[in-house]
Amino acid sequence: DLGDYKHYMQKEIFEQPQAIRDTLESRITKDTVSLSAFGHNAETIFTNIKHIQIIACGTSYNAGLVAKYWLEDIAKVPTNIEVASEYRYRNPVVLNNTLLVTISQSGETTDTLEALKSVKQHHNNIHTLTICNCAESFLTRESELTLLTHAGPEISVASTKAFTTQLVSLALLSVAIGKCHKQVDKKQETAIVDGLNRLPGLIKKTLEQESQIIELAQSFKNKFNAIFLGRGTMHAIAMEGALKLKEISYIHSEAFPAGELKHGPIALIDQDTPVIAIAPNDQLLDKLKSNLQEVKSRGSQMIVFEDEMSNVTPMQNMTVMSITHNLGIITAPIIFTIPLQLLSYHVALIKGTNVDKPRNLAKSVTVE
Ligand code: M6R
Repeated sequence: DLGDYKHYMQKEIFEQPQAIRDTLESRITKDTVSLSAFGHNAETIFTNIKHIQIIACGTSYNAGLVAKYWLEDIAKVPTNIEVASEYRYRNPVVLNNTLLVTISQSGETTDTLEALKSVKQHHNNIHTLTICNCAESFLTRESELTLLTHAGPEISVASTKAFTTQLVSLALLSVAIGKCHKQVDKKQETAIVDGLNRLPGLIKKTLEQESQIIELAQSFKNKFNAIFLGRGTMHAIAMEGALKLKEISYIHSEAFPAGELKHGPIALIDQDTPVIAIAPNDQLLDKLKSNLQEVKSRGSQMIVFEDEMSNVTPMQNMTVMSITHNLGIITAPIIFTIPLQLLSYHVALIKGTNVDKPRNLAKSVTVE
């Protein structure tokens, strides 16, 4: 039931504060991340693993890209990630004591499922965990450990609340493994849990900035290309922003790590190619600001989503939109996802596409 909403995508974007509350519920008690939430023997498994391999497709892959940063930064466990459609068809080296993490909204994506089955078939000394939104699915049945994202049914083909709840779940996983490996102390755990608990309120605040995004969306009316830039976890969020925009508005969008611009992609930039940059106030901000200077001289229209503390000085052809402030390593990528979801939604409305059922796409990809 759509209620007052026009599309499922819009409804699902606005359901995110609740979806995150539901995903956190019973996984956090007071300021402690529960290990048993992942399965009764999770503590033993997490303590013994030495490597993590993440496998997923599409938006779920983008969530995994963020998690790679978190798992190495917080839990200090070497982590690789690959799209399932590549991983399953090659002969990857799988080390003993690897935790194979699959991420999926549906739990039915053929490539992800087949990649998991093939690793299980060829390797004994590994463990498997799925982060999934559907309790009764192939992936949950095939995995030793499961953490369900409690996003509720996601109808729109473009994934929104499944993504942010996957990120929340992956944050819980990073803390859980970090605790088992004695890399996360009580102080850090309390700080991360506090950030996670603040998310529903912060997202609600960001959603209230929708009217500014509607205005920004107008300039995409006659555009055929767009470029998204970010560094660190924000590169993964830029990838997700580009995927959303191409999926529902059919604008060709690419994401690049901002530092890679000068190695080729900057050749694409001209007056007709808007550049969307994500600029949180982190240790990479100054580097990103100098990347924006490089873009400026090509005359393209720039949209910068910044943190209130980032102080990006608006230049000619640049709109700077401040999101919120005081974001941490976990909260920042989740919050910066919201304006990109809203932007793609409003651009699609302007383009008049079928928002919930974009051309050529299915909600669950059960073909090879
Ligand atoms: O159900 P899954 O998470 O395994 O699906 C993976 C992708 O097919 C999916 O995320 C797809 O990229 C979405 N349409 C993105 O919005």
